[in-house]
This record gives sequence, structure tokens and C-alpha cells, in this order.
Amino acid sequence: MTSNLEAQLLALRQEGEKAIAAAETLERLEELRVNYLGKKGELGALLRSMGQMSAEERPKIGAIANTVKESLQTSLDQQRDALEAAQIQVQLEAETLDVTMPGIYSPQGRIHPLNGIIDRALDIFVGMGYTVAQGPEMETDYYNFEALNTPPDHPARDMQDTFYLPDGNLLRTHTSSVQIRYMEREDPPIRVVAPGRVYRRDNVDATHSAVFHQIELLAIDEGLTFTDLKGTIKVFLQAIFGDLPIRFRASYFPFTEPSAEVDLQWNGRWLEVMGCGMVDPNVLKSVGYDPEVYTGFAAGFGVERFAMVLHQIDDIRRLYASDLRFLQQF
Ligand code: DAH
Repeated sequence: MTSNLEAQLLALRQEGEKAIAAAETLERLEELRVNYLGKKGELGALLRSMGQMSAEERPKIGAIANTVKESLQTSLDQQRDALEAAQIQVQLEAETLDVTMPGIYSPQGRIHPLNGIIDRALDIFVGMGYTVAQGPEMETDYYNFEALNTPPDHPARDMQDTFYLPDGNLLRTHTSSVQIRYMEREDPPIRVVAPGRVYRRDNVDATHSAVFHQIELLAIDEGLTFTDLKGTIKVFLQAIFGDLPIRFRASYFPFTEPSAEVDLQWNGRWLEVMGCGMVDPNVLKSVGYDPEVYTGFAAGFGVERFAMVLHQIDDIRRLYASDLRFLQQF
């Protein structure tokens, strides 16, 4: 009985190891594992017959069964490692990579300097609680001039000659028109920033373009003062240009009273960078706001101007030429 079982165990080991060594796939190997070592496997079946053995025989056969189990397990592990390694080898050979081949060139895009300024300015104002708004580039005389306290024949129109359309509309000369459109739609309090393209009938040269970009700012609330305007402009200009001296110089715009121009000290010179002021009561009236209850401030500036100062660009036309030698510097 004993020697019979012992012989069977040893035969099982021999047969198992042969089958394992011959297994060509991981699936086949798993089948063999279940077949030999699994719960209902052959080794288990042999061991179950140990029940009929005497107490002296049982440990001896048990020990043999354990070595058989261990050696089958070791064979399975080794064969699995070998099959896996072979699989990786096959894959490596199939997917050879020639590291000396020239790469595929993919040029990196860049943010245009004008968009860079617009993005930064909007970020700063959104950080101060402003909402971004836009308006149409084709405007009516009303939104571009009249509602902004600039009636026909007002001398301020001279500086903002523009392109007129056959239907009497025009291409907006400034983003200030968005102030009126936004106030008509919304009730105070208002904090809005409006970027956009504007047009002037100017001869093109190093500092003038018939199409350029502005960013407009408008805040309306109860109790807003010139101090709020100064603080807001100062925070904004310092975020863009750094901690440089700025000054407010009295000026005139039809839509603000008082009005000011803001200068920035840049390389030892005062540079005019934006217009601003307290919103004229007539402008508030034109959108139905009560100027006895609400006050506000507004400002507008040219994006090209900012870009030219910040990046030391000598000719505005470079900003529109799409010359990669220029654009790749940013
Ligand atoms: N719209 C003016 C321009 O194009 C700039 C400006 C000045 C806008 C004063 C304003 C402002 O909102 O308050 O020259």
C-alpha cells in the first residue's frame, strides 16, 4: 500500500514536470496547475487515499507528497517566467524602435503678444470681481457716441473719425460702447471689463493702425469715488508693469467728469497709458440709472500700446504681420 502510493506520487511528479516543461502558453500552464495542484487535482486525489494508511506510514507519505507538490509548484513558476520572458522578447522584436531616425517636428504654438496682454488684463480684473463682456464691432451712432454724451457736431468726434457703413452705422471707435450696452441689460452694482477690436480712420504708420484693440472698464455702485478709480487703476498697472510711479493728469472725455489720463514712468519718461474718469451723469441718465443714487468710474486703454511698451516693440505693424521671426520671441 505504502510503496504503491509512493510510486504513484513519484510518477505523478514525473508526468507533471514533463507536461509543464512542454507547455507552450500561459493558458496551458494554468490548466496544468489546476489539473495537478488544484482542489480537485490529481495530487489531492492521491492524498485523499492516505486516510486508509497506518499512523506510521502517514507522515512518510505526507512528506513525499509535500516535496512532490513543491517541485511541481517550482516547475510551474519557472515555466511561467520562461513563457513571460519569451512573450516580451517576441514583442520587443516586433516593435523595434530605431532611435536614430529623425523625429517628427511639431512646432510649439505661442500666445500672440496682444492676446497675452488681453489674457493678463482680464485675469487681473476678474480677480477683482469684474465680469467679462463684449459688444459688436459694427455699432450705431447712438451706442458709440450719443449715449456716451457725444452728440452730433461735438468736437470730440473729430478725434474719433471712423468708417461709416451705407446704412448709417459705423465701426466702433472705442470699446466704451460696451458700457452702454451692458448698463442697458444689467442693473447696478456693475463691475465689467470689455476687450475688443476698434477702428479709426487713421493713416497707418509706426504708431497708428486703422484697426486696434482696447480694453474697457466700468464700475457703477452707490458711493463710488475717484479714490476707488485710482486704487483700481494702480493695482492693475502695477500687476502688469511692476511697481512703477504712476500719475493722474487732468484731461477731457465727453463721457466722464472729471476725466484723467494716466501716465506711467517708464525708462525715465512719463508715458500716457490710459484714459479714465467718473462716469458723466448724462451717461447714467441715458441708460435710466439715477445719477443721484449711483456713481461710477470708467477707463479705457489700447492693448497695442501696452504690448509695445512692455515688449519694446518699435512699430505697431509688427503686431499684425504674422512674421514668425517676430512672434517666436514671445
Ligand atoms: N474711449 C476712450 C478712447 O478711446 C478711452 C476712455 C477714456 C475710456 C476714458 C473710458 C474713459 O471709459 O472713462 O480714447
